Amino acid sequence: MHTKRFLLPLAAATAAWAQSLTDVLASQNHTLSTLIGLIQQQPDLLRTLGSLTDITILAPSNEAFTKLLSDPAVAAAIQSTPSLVPALLTYHVLNGTFLASALTALSEPAFVHTFLTDTTYSTVSGGQVVEVKAENGGVTVLSGNGASAKVTATDINFTGGTIHIIDNVLSIPPNLTVALTQGNLTALAGAATQANLVQAVSDIQQLTLFAPNNEAFAAAADVAAGLTVEQLTAVLGYHVIDGTVVYSSNIVNGTKVQTLQGSDLTITIRDGGVYVNDAKVVKPDVLVKNGVVHVIDGILIPDNLSSATPSASGTATGTGAAATGTATVVPGMGSTMGKGAVGAVALFGSVAALMNM
Ligand SMILES: *[C@@H]1O[C@H](CO)[C@@H](O)[C@H](O)[C@H]1NC(C)=O
Ligand SMILES: *[C@@H]1O[C@H](CO)[C@@H](O)[C@H](O)[C@H]1NC(C)=O
Ligand SMILES: *[C@@H]1O[C@H](CO)[C@@H](O)[C@H](O)[C@H]1NC(C)=O
Ligand SMILES: *[C@@H]1O[C@H](CO)[C@@H](O)[C@H](O)[C@H]1NC(C)=O
Ligand SMILES: *[C@@H]1O[C@H](CO)[C@@H](O)[C@H](O)[C@H]1NC(C)=O
Ligand SMILES: *[C@@H]1O[C@H](CO)[C@@H](O)[C@H](O)[C@H]1NC(C)=O
Ligand SMILES: *[C@@H]1O[C@H](CO)[C@@H](O)[C@H](O)[C@H]1NC(C)=O
Repeated sequence: MHTKRFLLPLAAATAAWAQSLTDVLASQNHTLSTLIGLIQQQPDLLRTLGSLTDITILAPSNEAFTKLLSDPAVAAAIQSTPSLVPALLTYHVLNGTFLASALTALSEPAFVHTFLTDTTYSTVSGGQVVEVKAENGGVTVLSGNGASAKVTATDINFTGGTIHIIDNVLSIPPNLTVALTQGNLTALAGAATQANLVQAVSDIQQLTLFAPNNEAFAAAADVAAGLTVEQLTAVLGYHVIDGTVVYSSNIVNGTKVQTLQGSDLTITIRDGGVYVNDAKVVKPDVLVKNGVVHVIDGILIPDNLSSATPSASGTATGTGAAATGTATVVPGMGSTMGKGAVGAVALFGSVAALMNM
């Protein structure tokens, strides 16, 4: 089947492939009738799928859709948002033919691009990704908010590629705001709000964010005592990479990446973990609409942050030392909050409140 499609002239073959996908899906009607029904309501999508070659369809079973639609909020969103079903379905189509044998042989998680390119739902170039892992002899697929699906039947081939059946519907990765809430990263969300950075970081199209957890903010409370908004902005900007989505699988020991603040971060693999400067990644690869978030256990302080932060040096877990120089507003990210010190109470009072949520 696989080799045959290379022998067919492209234009002539398109209709036949669509038919073939339809036929193959129909042969699985006992398990996939809900999916088939959804696809049939999307003639444009069906045409597109039929014209694609070298794809893998992760096909949620009827039970998977029943579970999903039992959530009234989801059912309502699907009813009220016409773009949602096509977005969700394209998120289940992987760019490439990945037979079960290739997936079960993975030695580390793979981040595979899908055909979800609708910018309402994802700005990740090449299409939003799913995380695929070999686990206990099987294959697990992780998606938004860590949603997990197991592959339950494999290698149902059609002329454009192959189909694997999964036991849960994948979840489109949410935007940053939602992800920070879901991930309990409330202190970071509070600090980013104080620095008026939420929108700017949400607007980045290819984002990598190293997100200190609440414990990291609690440990660094005294560091922040003298921070101006400009300094806070610089510190937070030192956690942001604009232009590259760095998944754990892309990390090479010793990688240096330039941050929004301007200085580089160094990523190392040691002691059985991944470190960003001296902060440890405690939860990698949280997928978001515009990239990826890695949760870390310390706040990263750029070396050239103003010496006006007296206690920055060596206080928080895993920070670099504060050195001399004057604080600066991260280029292109003007603050509307004025230039005075935020003050520990103003900043960490609200952060502390958020942390107790
Ligand atoms: C597929 O299954 C559904 C639900 O069981 C059924 O209503 C439908 O008639 C079936 N379609 C075909 C072509 O067998
Ligand atoms: C799918 O992958 C191929 C080859 O890697 C690439 O040329 C193509 O642009 C990708 N499709 C999308 C929609 O990104
Ligand atoms: C699908 O194709 C692959 C590669 O040619 C093959 O190994 C597999 O057995 C096929 N699956 C089925 C169900 O025939
Ligand atoms: C994030 O997504 C939520 C839920 O879809 C939405 O209510 C919110 O407005 C979005 N926020 C941004 C900054 O886009
Ligand atoms: C969220 O963070 C707070 C503060 O560190 C912690 O007490 C709480 O258990 C966390 N909640 C979850 C769901 O992780
Ligand atoms: C710190 O260094 C970076 C990179 O060289 C630079 O972009 C930034 O402006 C510097 N900040 C200060 C306050 O000197
Ligand atoms: C990564 O590089 C550091 C030195 O920069 C070294 O100590 C460490 O052992 C390396 N890790 C691996 C897994 O090779």
